Amino acid sequence: MKNRIDILQNKIVQAHLGGGQARIDSQHKKGKLTARERIHFLMDEGSFEEIGMLVTHRSTDFGMEREKYLGDGVVTGYGTINGRLTYVFSQDFTVFGGSLSETHAEKICKIMDMAMKNGAPLIGLNDSGGARIQEGVVSLGGYADIFYKNVQASGVIPQLSAIMGPCAGGAVYSPAITDFILMVENTSYMFVTGPNVVKTVTHEEVSSEELGGATTHATKSGVTHFACANEIEAINYLKKLLSYVPQNCEETPANLPYETGDEKRLSLDTLLPEIASQPYDIRDVIAQITDSDSFFEVHAAYAENIVVGFARLAGRSIGIVANQPAYLAGVLDSNSSTKAARFVRFCDCFNIPLLVLEDVPGFLPGTDQEWNGIITNGAKLLYAFSEATVPRITVITRKAYGGAYDVMNSKHIGADMNYAWPSAEIAVMGAKGAAEIIFKKEITAAENQQEKWLEKEKLYSDIFANPYRAAERGFVDEVIEPSQTRIKLIKAFKMLENKVVNNPRKKHGNIPL
Ligand code: HXC
Repeated sequence: MKNRIDILQNKIVQAHLGGGQARIDSQHKKGKLTARERIHFLMDEGSFEEIGMLVTHRSTDFGMEREKYLGDGVVTGYGTINGRLTYVFSQDFTVFGGSLSETHAEKICKIMDMAMKNGAPLIGLNDSGGARIQEGVVSLGGYADIFYKNVQASGVIPQLSAIMGPCAGGAVYSPAITDFILMVENTSYMFVTGPNVVKTVTHEEVSSEELGGATTHATKSGVTHFACANEIEAINYLKKLLSYVPQNCEETPANLPYETGDEKRLSLDTLLPEIASQPYDIRDVIAQITDSDSFFEVHAAYAENIVVGFARLAGRSIGIVANQPAYLAGVLDSNSSTKAARFVRFCDCFNIPLLVLEDVPGFLPGTDQEWNGIITNGAKLLYAFSEATVPRITVITRKAYGGAYDVMNSKHIGADMNYAWPSAEIAVMGAKGAAEIIFKKEITAAENQQEKWLEKEKLYSDIFANPYRAAERGFVDEVIEPSQTRIKLIKAFKMLENKVVNNPRKKHGNIPL
């Protein structure tokens, strides 16, 4: 037995060396951790159990039978994160550049199946040169197997992807299907075709970083939800993200213990600017309403006219969607609609109640928006809210104009509680524009047209630039003092915690994509 144990231990040592010390050193020189180091920092100490450590590839072309590494370029297994069962795969760039072989794919698929059967989150740590070039089609098949399982798992278990090195070609589509992507600045990139192909086809000269680095995808494309300064930050974000979500779609997120005290927030009564056209940062409102330091913004650098993220309210995990008056006046456009719609759908998948803070002047006009499908994209958000069955509450802080009033979780599309601050203005459009249209003849005929316009603007404003017409109809359930918002929300979300809504039976809806 002693000899046999020695053989086993030898193999374990070998597996831990991946592609060898030289390649580990080269990985470190690039400022990157190894696959195992990443798992070490991610999982609770001593909790990780590896599955498939001794797997090797089966290919024989190009002398591959002589070059085999235990584990075949991916470390897979399970463990706990803050005590909760989580499955993980971590690609090992030191073995064939972390490239995906048939067996590498099988290992990933195995733990995906386990995560599904046992209802626990899956985290992928990606660092790979893509399809194992020596293997050809079996590698492509391996990718497709993973994509298929990603889709089957979507909405069943949370799937998180951290990109910690290259992720190119078709390989990008697995992270793209998962719920959240995190990238590391300067050491990770994602693109369908790299700079060389781009140069050949479109004659553009672009670096990898510019084409598909973390900042690019966090600001321009919105592909990544987080651009992290380094790998440790990315790992900490993964843990934080998990803390707001349940294990699977059958569970609700854990409520943290919380003792309610004085929940009045007097500063909210004076937070809005005197003049309605002036901006303010909606994050200041969020900070006052939610438990201290609990707001975790998602997609912060993309479509900044809408703010989305997780927070806690008296210990309860909630998702927040908020127009941002400090950026483009909080207008809804294609990118902000798509960003918010995806977030709403995630929250609904995983039983996370939704809070909407509304201050929206409408949809952004212009050829750019129309030609880029604001109709279809705006419809995504409308659709996402309308189909969401989680508890849904809206607070209108100021403007709720036009179609955006309907879209932003209005009572009409199934919101459970709709509050408005006394500063709310709920109308088809702003008073100035409205007066110009409906009093056009009177204004044109007037001796002093400017004076007449102002008079009519005031008339329209007196009637509609307040929350009371909507409250009279019950479209707003209550007009509240801003300082009361937190306590109202705590009580309302508690009241709604056993909410049950069943949408009509169907195969699946057809969200306008
Ligand atoms: C096999 C690979 C590999 C691959 C890298 N290696 N990519 N082996 N298949 N796809 C190996 C290298 O031979 C090298 O082996 C080691 O990994 C490290 O690679 P380097 O090139 O030395 O590293 P670096 O300079 O950091 O460059 C990394 C890289 C580059 C940018 C990823 O290796 C690269 O361009 N690789 C090819 C990428 C690619 O075209 N993949 C296919 C994409 S198509 P040694 O022995 O020297 O350590 C695709 C289709 C998926 O993925 C479709 C799904 C639908």
